Amino acid sequence: MTDKIIQSLRFVAAAHSNLIGDSRFYFQLALVILLVFQFVLTVRVAIARQVSQQDRSQETYRQQQRPPEDPALIARGQGLYGIHCRGCHGVDLRGGDLGGPNLLRSQLVLRDEQGESIWPVIRDGQTTAGVSSMPAQSLAQDDAEAVAAFIRSVLAKAERQGAPPSADRTVELDILVGDPGTGKVYFLDNCSSCHSATGDLAGIATEISDAKTLQNTWVRGRRRGTLRPSVTVSVTQPSGVRVGGQLERLDDFFVLLSDSNGRLRSFRRDGDVPTVEISDPLGRHTELLSIYTDKNIHDVTAYLVTLK
Ligand code: HEC
Ligand code: HEC
Repeated sequence: MTDKIIQSLRFVAAAHSNLIGDSRFYFQLALVILLVFQFVLTVRVAIARQVSQQDRSQETYRQQQRPPEDPALIARGQGLYGIHCRGCHGVDLRGGDLGGPNLLRSQLVLRDEQGESIWPVIRDGQTTAGVSSMPAQSLAQDDAEAVAAFIRSVLAKAERQGAPPSADRTVELDILVGDPGTGKVYFLDNCSSCHSATGDLAGIATEISDAKTLQNTWVRGRRRGTLRPSVTVSVTQPSGVRVGGQLERLDDFFVLLSDSNGRLRSFRRDGDVPTVEISDPLGRHTELLSIYTDKNIHDVTAYLVTLK
């Protein structure tokens, strides 16, 4: 290879020294043009490479590419997030005790530019049938946009999409701060009508070895990825006719259910007519949510962790 280069250099040098007058000048000019051309080509290739790298990172991680947002807006959003969202989505956005999903992995959040994706979810709530649902949150639009700015700012700082923020380890450790003895007493008072440490929950800490996952599971009454046991409803008409089935939808004006044949049936409601009785296997879990203190939750988790 090098031999070839040296050979061709010799050839160029020889050709050069053989030339005289005008030809010599044109030869030099041609060389210069060749060099300039080569230079422009190299620069263009380098620029193209850089641009395509930028494109690629933009595709994978939009929130890291945008200019930083107003710190005052982010701070206000963070405060509001702590009040309205933290319980369900967690301090670090990775999902909280009350069952909200990890927002760091949400495609919807990743593509949010100015709250246009996040705001409708806050305003209307969101339900994935049979999986989970988020109730509508009463926030004004500008507050919701501040929350969205805060969420985007956390994503911008995360190391890569969905990766645990580096402060995460301390959060994990904070889970096991409860007292197992107090937790046991709480369990006997509040849970033992339906569960038993030697029955259905025996070995739960072996099956679910991660304390945070165990806590999310017992608080929700459901393992991640499993279907919620369905809510049943029984509608009794003034005539005494009674229809029962799986509850599909209930509001002030209608109740919609699917009966045992899978047929949808809807009934108009007018105050207490017809009589509507709901039975939700996880109803008690939902009620308990508003009763637990942080300490209750930590104590019960500390107790359940001992059920190996
Ligand atoms: C009571 C618990 C709860 C509260 C409070 C809550 N969320 Fe949610 N959130 C959920 C659940 C559960 C889902 C998943 C809904 C589904 O399955 O469609 C969700 C979904 C979302 C999603 C959509 C994620 C996606 O990829 O589809 C966003 C965004 C979101 N929440 C933001 C917020 C913000 C911001 C707040 C506070 C203003 C908030 N949530 C308050 C439980 C909650
Ligand atoms: C009124 C009855 C009732 C009470 C009280 C109750 N639960 Fe539950 N719990 C349920 C039902 C129903 C399920 C769902 C079981 C299923 O899906 O198979 C459940 C699910 C669970 C699960 C998940 C079990 C698994 O294997 O996936 C755990 C853990 C749990 N409850 C813990 C508790 C704790 C701790 C308390 C008290 C703080 C409590 N429950 C209070 C009825 C109850």
